[in-house]
Amino acid sequence: MVAALERRYGITGLTESAVLPVIGTKELIAWLPTLLGLGADDLVVVPELAYPTYDVGARLAGAQVLYADSLTQLGPQTPALVFVNSPSNPTGQVLGVDHLRKLVGWARDRGVLVASDECYLGLHWDAEPVSVLHPSVCDGDHTGLLAVHSLSKSSSLAGYRAGFVAGDEAVVGELLAVRKHAGMMVPRPVQAAIVAALDDDAHEREQRERYRRRRGVLLPAFQSAGFTVDHSEAGLYLWVTRGEPCRDTVGWLAQRGILAAPGEFYGPRGARHVRVALTATDERIAAAVDRLTD
Ligand SMILES: Cc1ncc(COP(=O)(O)O)c(C=O)c1O
Repeated sequence: MVAALERRYGITGLTESAVLPVIGTKELIAWLPTLLGLGADDLVVVPELAYPTYDVGARLAGAQVLYADSLTQLGPQTPALVFVNSPSNPTGQVLGVDHLRKLVGWARDRGVLVASDECYLGLHWDAEPVSVLHPSVCDGDHTGLLAVHSLSKSSSLAGYRAGFVAGDEAVVGELLAVRKHAGMMVPRPVQAAIVAALDDDAHEREQRERYRRRRGVLLPAFQSAGFTVDHSEAGLYLWVTRGEPCRDTVGWLAQRGILAAPGEFYGPRGARHVRVALTATDERIAAAVDRLTD
């Protein structure tokens, strides 16, 4: 596994004991604050537009939640845990090396744990995302850093519930100790599937090219139908707007038989966007293109 992470994402300095399989990353994200022992006195920072499970995780632990994309929004507060997600669900935004370096330096100075959800790291189109464990971000020091990786997207293993968390060996060790006593072990065959998937670079490339082709037809179709496409430089989604409330856009698309997620699901700043997934089959994507350009 460690060799695959170095080959694919340039993550150096990991040992096998710094990598822990999880039962899909949703479970890890939802339980991480609880497994870390966070509670009412602790603050968890989540991106302003985000996959809802970061918030779920903080709530399950009874911790406080702050929605923030920049450190200045935190003021003098010192959170216990900061979630970042690059490439982002839902926007497809990629955080650059400078942004991540600054976050890591700030977190390190304060003893804050950073959990970087990197489940779309391999799916990039117009920008090159980087892992928080990449030496250009962390100088090879994984202290206080966790990278969360899912096999659901890069290898289509969603039904297997296959993912892993890697990084700070002490934190990973602590998570393993708690999780094994809580019965949160990943079955051996699923662990074998994770290893097989990480060793199968040809399949990963094929997947990426499939999504690239779908994006290549769907993105211009949305633009020619009068949509503005924001971010969407990586990941599995187009983040689009018609400059109107998202529910109106969802309705407009539904009349054409196209299903999109209202941006407000992901936070108030998404109120005028919708999220369009590239996960439909090629045939369904082609049908959506026809309907948008008719
Ligand atoms: C940003 C993000 N993180 C984590 C997950 C969870 O993926 P899984 O539980 O299948 O590993 C998803 C799934 O959509 C996601 O979008």
